[in-house]
Amino acid sequence: MNKVRTILTLSFVIAGLGGAMSTFALDSLRGAAIEEMSAQPAKRKIDVVEGGIERTFEQQPPLIPHGIENYALNLRQHGCIKCHSKARAEKENTKPPSDSHFVDRDGNQLGKLSSRRYFCTQCHMVQIKGEPLVENTFQGLE
Ligand code: HEC
Ligand code: HEC
Repeated sequence: MNKVRTILTLSFVIAGLGGAMSTFALDSLRGAAIEEMSAQPAKRKIDVVEGGIERTFEQQPPLIPHGIENYALNLRQHGCIKCHSKARAEKENTKPPSDSHFVDRDGNQLGKLSSRRYFCTQCHMVQIKGEPLVENTFQGLE
């Protein structure tokens, strides 16, 4: 009898917790509750911009003006370097990373890409054809 009572009490506690949790909703930047946003977002087209995307502030890592889904970037493979290495860039009609990418944390100039700059997409990002999430009044460089 006691066992049954314990199980019953436990199930009420769990049901109660579940109920309390479902009334707890966070608002996102889009204004909708997060649960309502769990649907997969529409696929957006990558913005391909010939001639590159202008920088909007000094020292900005330039945005990537092309798709990158076909270029592996992991410990074994580095898809970006096939076109953006110093040796290949000119042939591929683009630029190699600037000198800042060849300096270690102690300021020494290296002969190879610094490990601090290995994962390009830490700083450089592709763009999609999308609407801004919120109003933005930032004014970039002319
Ligand atoms: C098949 C060759 C190729 C590969 C691979 C490639 N890129 Fe590019 N990338 C280009 C070309 C060509 C441009 C110049 C596009 C233009 O100006 O129209 C460019 C431009 C860029 C720029 C803009 C540079 C600037 O000064 O505006 C960045 C940043 C960049 N790529 C990053 C990457 C990253 C990160 C990867 C890997 C995930 C990558 N690219 C892979 C060919 C490539
Ligand atoms: C820690 C951030 C960071 C990482 C990681 C990084 N970059 Fe950059 N990149 C920058 C910044 C900041 C600039 C602009 C200022 C400068 O040139 O130092 C830049 C500039 C560039 C440019 C423009 C060069 C020019 O002469 O105008 C290219 C091309 C580039 N990066 C490619 C790459 C590639 C390819 C990788 C990966 C191998 C990479 N970057 C990794 C921050 C980064």
